[in-house]
Amino acid sequence: MTRRHDNQLLGIDIGASGIKAAVVDIASGELRSERHRVPTPAPATPERFGKAVRKVVAHLHYSGPVGCCFPTIVVGGEARSASNLGEHWIGVSVEETFSDATGLPFDVVNDADAAGIAEMRLGAGRDLDGTVITITIGTGIGSGMFRNGTLIPNLELGHMPGFDGEPIERYASGNARKRDDLSWPEWGQRFDYFLKRAARVCTPDHFVLGGGASKRFHKFSDEVTVTIPVHVANFLNDAGIVGAALVAAESR
Ligand code: BGC
Repeated sequence: MTRRHDNQLLGIDIGASGIKAAVVDIASGELRSERHRVPTPAPATPERFGKAVRKVVAHLHYSGPVGCCFPTIVVGGEARSASNLGEHWIGVSVEETFSDATGLPFDVVNDADAAGIAEMRLGAGRDLDGTVITITIGTGIGSGMFRNGTLIPNLELGHMPGFDGEPIERYASGNARKRDDLSWPEWGQRFDYFLKRAARVCTPDHFVLGGGASKRFHKFSDEVTVTIPVHVANFLNDAGIVGAALVAAESR
């Protein structure tokens, strides 16, 4: 499929474990193609990522502008942190790497910022004013901050120090639940600790929870005692894809 309409763009969500992509209707956020997923290459080098992204684009027979989200701090299309990918990404232009690999124009933003944009524009955050913090729970903990709908990019709440001085995402992410073999309530207590720390630092009016674990909110909601209202994301695991496509649309 080539790009069928001006209001459809390809969104790609690069995660620490998978690369997910689909063509997105930017007015509704609905996926207009197959949701294609391939494993994230290991070792996680720019060359291997470029090849994987080229294959994903070819698989979807897509041609046109691409929105892409990436699991590091991203400034001007460039990775500015190692996060879960490795130090070698710091200073690499992710936009240029993928544009060169595919011959298509790329807009690249942080993955949690993209997921937050999807929720704030078209999902669970659509009617929320004031300061909204969107959280993605996965390999790490990603965070997006919005003030009356405007993104303040690259908030890294998952990197607040935890009990042991290590980034708090190592204690409270979805990966930590699996690694430490925690029940949902046990993990929910850790996550609640994270939310309370985030609330103390940022005083948001709302939290919106997305990413893998948010689909299981009913399994840990009893442990969430933070006093800020908590909403569950609408786009769940597709939020990054949808938000990335919206970012590309908004930049044009
Ligand atoms: C990274 C963030 C990212 C999050 C979710 C964290 O480790 O520092 O930039 O948004 O993981 O992928």
